[in-house]
Amino acid sequence: FERRKDVHTDNLPVSDLGLSKRPRRNRRADWSRRLVREVELTANDLIWPLFVIEGDSEIAVDAMPGVSRLSIQAAVREAEKAAALDIPAIALFPYTDPLLRDELGSEAHNSRNLVCRATRAIKAAVPEIGVITDVALDPYTSHGHDGLMRDGVVLNDESVAALVEQALVQAAAGADVIAPSDMMDGRVAAIRAALDREGFRDVQIMAYAAKYASAFYGPFRDAVGSNVALVGDKRTYQMDPANGDEALREVALDLDEGADMVMVKPGMPYLDVVHRVKEAFRVPTFAYQVSGEYAMIEGAARQGWIDGEKAMLESLIAFKRAGADGVLTYFALRVAQRLKQGRL
Ligand code: PBG
Repeated sequence: FERRKDVHTDNLPVSDLGLSKRPRRNRRADWSRRLVREVELTANDLIWPLFVIEGDSEIAVDAMPGVSRLSIQAAVREAEKAAALDIPAIALFPYTDPLLRDELGSEAHNSRNLVCRATRAIKAAVPEIGVITDVALDPYTSHGHDGLMRDGVVLNDESVAALVEQALVQAAAGADVIAPSDMMDGRVAAIRAALDREGFRDVQIMAYAAKYASAFYGPFRDAVGSNVALVGDKRTYQMDPANGDEALREVALDLDEGADMVMVKPGMPYLDVVHRVKEAFRVPTFAYQVSGEYAMIEGAARQGWIDGEKAMLESLIAFKRAGADGVLTYFALRVAQRLKQGRL
């Protein structure tokens, strides 16, 4: 079509609102935008979740394009890459063969289970990277719940005993940080006491303190194989997405019980919670950009609907602005690579 030649800005009358404040001044040039920037994203802010599986082949996660379940050897290689890019820590999640699942989640406290072997292998090859292991029974139970179940009820205190055993085998395998994601009451205190008693006084605890019953975990449950099994939902232990004050009470309890760091999960829909937690407690506060958030960004990007690189970086800087000290993100390696190239 032909542009109308008589319509252009050349002849606009000069106008001046006489403003005393012009916020756009600071945004005029790149140097100035960089100078006034309030928060920065660095590799130090990243925790990289990795899925591991038995055998030697990588198996793609359908709803997480670009993410695969890795063999132990491949996980070691990825950990080496992460360490070389200054990513401080990785978080391990096992896909468990359905044949190894039972009502008690017994495989969780097998000291030779997949996560324990992966932890040993990674700590042997890449001792400088922090290894975070997840404490919850869902990869191991036949019903897919994070705790033990009787008559359709997820039991609390009985589950805590099992979670303590799980934490101990992980610590013995060399995990640096135990991360209880189960949301049972009193588990942080019980795990702390057991770690101390068994000589793991320096093993840290990162508590999934405010973990919501969320639809955004869907792809993760596929990745670890707990979706096929899951009976019902997790609303009797994970938090109601409608609640914010309750998150502060959960964080207060976990800190009281000995958590060294706390986490809010999911991430983007809960930035208000991240902010409130950081403001209220001023402790190391992390957010988990979960599988469904990754799937939304990466899925839309692969369709050509959004600029994936920009959306990835924008989502991560938003966590920093909200007050997070770091983010668990499946984008960690990609972001760290970009940071290294100085292309932010
Ligand atoms: C297990 C656990 C879950 C996630 C981390 N640990 C799933 C769940 O609670 O059902 C979700 C992570 C993600 O979606 O990326 N308790």
